[in-house]
Amino acid sequence: MDKEVQTIDTEQAVTLVLDREVDCSRGCVIAKNNALSIGRLFRANLLWMDDDELIVGRNYLLKLGTKIVPATVIKIHYCINVNTGQHILQDQAKKNDLINCDISLSEKIVVDKLEQTPELGRFILINRISNMTSACGVVEYILHRSDNLTWQNLDITKEIRSNQKNQTPKTLWFTGLSGSGKSTIANALEKALVSIGKHTMLLDGDNIRIGLNNNLSFSEEDRVENIRRIAEVSKLLNDAGIIVLVAAISPFEKDRENAKKIIGTDFVEIYVDTSLEECEKRDIKGLYQKARKGEICNFTGISSPYEAPQNPDFIARAQENSVGEIVNQILNFLNY
Ligand code: ADX
Repeated sequence: MDKEVQTIDTEQAVTLVLDREVDCSRGCVIAKNNALSIGRLFRANLLWMDDDELIVGRNYLLKLGTKIVPATVIKIHYCINVNTGQHILQDQAKKNDLINCDISLSEKIVVDKLEQTPELGRFILINRISNMTSACGVVEYILHRSDNLTWQNLDITKEIRSNQKNQTPKTLWFTGLSGSGKSTIANALEKALVSIGKHTMLLDGDNIRIGLNNNLSFSEEDRVENIRRIAEVSKLLNDAGIIVLVAAISPFEKDRENAKKIIGTDFVEIYVDTSLEECEKRDIKGLYQKARKGEICNFTGISSPYEAPQNPDFIARAQENSVGEIVNQILNFLNY
């Protein structure tokens, strides 16, 4: 720290003064002859240590060496029986499972196979909310699936497209229980927006699941993917200059947070606050009755949780106010 040295040993902390201007900070790796590999997708063996199950598609933090980056397990290939070494095909992981999986990172980092560079081939996954270690793992090999993609800058930008429509794009994300009134309010709000000349698109959970997401179920993993895809589509529509209204239960806080991360500052979270008792009493689609009889599994509010937003941008009190009143409140809130 305070004196100059010519040599140091491994594990010793040292201040490096570089001989040129380089963007270098915690987590960077200085290597001789560019010998290390760089990647953002790799196959790994992972020991899952969290009490909660691993959810494919959820966001964790990966710490490898001193580098910390957002990471997602995108596919579980198999579970390894620690006694026999046998591979068991499965797509989930619970506490103490040793699994083989693909991990995707939010950015490229210096990473290597464990056998080649041990320091750069082992990592931990951290739960973003509790900050606890959820898993430890080793890198089997790097996958180069998306390495040759480059973001294309286009001449017609989001600003140009929005200016042409004379509006600021937004994604008005309605979350709430099934039957809470999300679709009804979103539908009425869209009519009001169109009547004042706005260009809109309504993405309704049921409709999206009949089309784009018809390969997804209501398991937690598939709901993560459902919300991710709806968020990516909303972002594209915002880039086209359009005001998007999303009506999807989106029961898990982490997934709404992820949607917010994908969509950015255009994201507005609207919580349609109708109690489970009221939704069940209305039971417009007859689904609560079916769920109570056990005919639908993972039904939100009955056999799958709904995590109400802690800090929504707007709360629609659908039990106390009429649809028309809520539409006016939202228009006021948005300054339209
Ligand atoms: S989400 O949870 O993944 O956000 P989404 O809003 O897309 O759900 O779809 C919810 C709609 O699917 C409900 O309005 C309901 O009509 C239907 N549905 C069918 N099965 C279920 C279930 N198990 N849980 C919740 N909704 C279900």
